[in-house]
Order: sequence, then C-alpha cells, then structure tokens
Amino acid sequence: MSAKILYGKEFAAKIKESAREQVEELKSKFGVTPGLTVIIVGENPASQVYVRNKHKTCEELGIVSEVVALPEDTNKDDLLAKIDELNANPNVHGILVQLPLPAAIKAHSDEILNRIDPRKDVDGFHPVNVGKLVIGTPDLVPCTPAGCIEMLDLAGIEIDGKNAVIIGRSNIVGKPLLHLLLARHATVTVCHTHTKNLPEIARQADILVAASGKPKLVTADMIKPGATVIDVGINRIAPKKLVGDVDFDAAVDVAGAITPVPGGVGLLTVAMLMKNVVKAARLQLEA
Ligand code: GUN
Repeated sequence: MSAKILYGKEFAAKIKESAREQVEELKSKFGVTPGLTVIIVGENPASQVYVRNKHKTCEELGIVSEVVALPEDTNKDDLLAKIDELNANPNVHGILVQLPLPAAIKAHSDEILNRIDPRKDVDGFHPVNVGKLVIGTPDLVPCTPAGCIEMLDLAGIEIDGKNAVIIGRSNIVGKPLLHLLLARHATVTVCHTHTKNLPEIARQADILVAASGKPKLVTADMIKPGATVIDVGINRIAPKKLVGDVDFDAAVDVAGAITPVPGGVGLLTVAMLMKNVVKAARLQLEA
C-alpha cells in the first residue's frame, strides 16, 4: 500500500486565499493595508531566496512589503535602531529578521529578536508570544509549526487523542509544535539527540513529525503502518538537491499519509506568515 502524498501547494493556495480575503476586509472595513518589513543582513543565498519568496507572496495578496537589506558588517546597535524605527512606524504591522544572522552578530540574535514589538512579531519568536503559546492563549505563533497543524486540519487528519512524536526540539519548530499539538489534545513526545530509543518511540506515533535537520534519519522501520508523517527537514545534500529528514521512498510504503520534500509542508510556512501579518494588523487595530 502506498501513502497519500500531502503536497503543500494545494494547501498553501487555500491558506493564501483566506489571507487575501482577510486583507481585503481590513482594507474595506478599517482602511488598513497590512504591511510587512523583512530585514536581511548579509548575503546568505538561502536566506535571499526565502526573503524574495516572502516579498512575492505579499505582493500577490495585497500586503505592502518592504525588504531592508543591510550589509554583512552591520553592527548590533544599527540593527536595534532599525527595529526601533519599524516598531514606531504605524504602517508596518509585521517585522521579521531573517535568520541566521552573520557570524559577527549571531550571538546577539536573542537580544535582537526580543527588541521587536511583540504585536509585530510575525515569527512568533518573542518571549511574550512564546509564553502566550505555552499558557494556551496564543496570539502570533511560529509559522512552520502552525503550518503543520493547518496541514493536518486541511487534510482531515484527527489530532485529538492521538500519539504525536516530534523529532527535534528547536525553538522554531519542535518546541512550539509541542504546545500546538498539546492544545489540540494530542499526547506528545519530543525526541532529540540524547533520546535513547528513538525508533521504538517513533513507532508509537500516529503523527510523526521530523524536524531534526538530518537527512534520512527517519527510516521505514520507525513508522507505524498507516501513520501520518510530516517532514519539516530541508537538507541541501548537493547544490541543487534538497531532501527532508525522512527516507521518503521507503516511508511511502508504510505511512498512511506523508509530506514530500521539497513541495510539502515547507510551502505552508510563507502562507502562514501572511496570516500572521493579517493577525498582527488586527492586534494593532485593537490596541
Ligand atoms: N530562517 C529559517 N527559517 C526562519 C524562520 O522561520 N524565521 C526567520 N526569521 N528566519 C528563518
């Protein structure tokens, strides 16, 4: 038996269509056009691709998009000053600092991200937004894990009462996804590099999410027959070859549903970002 393949494109299109309607509503009812500013520091080629994609998607949906490209040698204080300026600009509803930052200021990443007004933090990385997610009153939630939940919902895959296993404990994916799944009444296990019996735990999963950054970490024997497998990994194994964390060709014969890489859940990240920009604009209307 072969798994149902969950292609991201159709789901992303639905989410973007709903964001587009919300943009229209903000314009017609409140005279507000949502605006996103993305700051990119340096010349990281992958980051440049991601930022271009965000800009293009904003334009498609009627969101005002500005990209602030700063040189590689930008210092922390200049970056903080730019964030202060954007925090004070009422036309900017969302601020996103593209990661990773260059080596010279990487150690200050937390201080830099924490400077963003939590109501404009469309990445959902600010401690205020992380705290709200953990206590169960989320406002702005990180886009990639939110995309995982949206994909399960749109695919009609039940979460309530299911065993979910997440491989990876990053602040961007693993940890926020733990809380999103918990809020939906899944029983959640988070595995990581020190986990002793990963295959055995993974095999308990009705929903298995791989977010480890290790190509082919998830093999067919780690998947319960019929399980839903969501592959969040994006690993570049050759200049033009991207693979996920799951051995897709073997897993597709065991899983019930599975996301490919590329073309899977990653496509939902930008769509969810657009939703967060709309949500941020609403939060600022209320304040
Ligand atoms: N770089 C890779 N993923 C992300 C993300 O979700 N947000 C930001 N700001 N940078 C990233």
